[in-house]
Amino acid sequence: MFYRLKQFYWGVICSFKSIDYEFLKMYLNEEELNLFSKLKTNEMHHCIRVAKSALKFAEDIECNDMSKNYFIKACLLHDIGKIGINISTVDKSLLVIVDKISRGKIKKYNNIKKIDVYYNHPKIGYNILKPYGYSDEFLYLILNHHNHDIKDNKNLNILIRCDSIN
Ligand SMILES: [Fe+2]
Ligand SMILES: [Fe+2]
Repeated sequence: MFYRLKQFYWGVICSFKSIDYEFLKMYLNEEELNLFSKLKTNEMHHCIRVAKSALKFAEDIECNDMSKNYFIKACLLHDIGKIGINISTVDKSLLVIVDKISRGKIKKYNNIKKIDVYYNHPKIGYNILKPYGYSDEFLYLILNHHNHDIKDNKNLNILIRCDSIN
């Protein structure tokens, strides 16, 4: 609940804060920056916060399949499935509440674009990034970043953790 309130606060405040492009440029190439800048301002801030939190877990990042920088890139792009849709901070809070009350039953109203993106943006993001030739492990992180049942992927667990506190 505390994090939800914090998320709401950030959502409102962040519309006025400038984007940390210096940080972005360390991890994203021009094409990725282009894609990233299609996100709503507060989504961009969220993704940057997630990536910066993930850096604090740097020692735990499994580097066998992917380098640290590549993992941070995945953290920055994890919500890329939200591009082109405007889910406001108020919409998001409402969706979280209705989701809790209905125990996820609103999922089936996926003909409503905002509901569809809210639930399916990991899959949408996966489909957006797939043609660019990222590794399977990278795409796996994007696709599963809301799947809290997967416990055996260290990098995914870091991403999920950092996502939920930011
Ligand atoms: Fe997400
Ligand atoms: Fe996220």
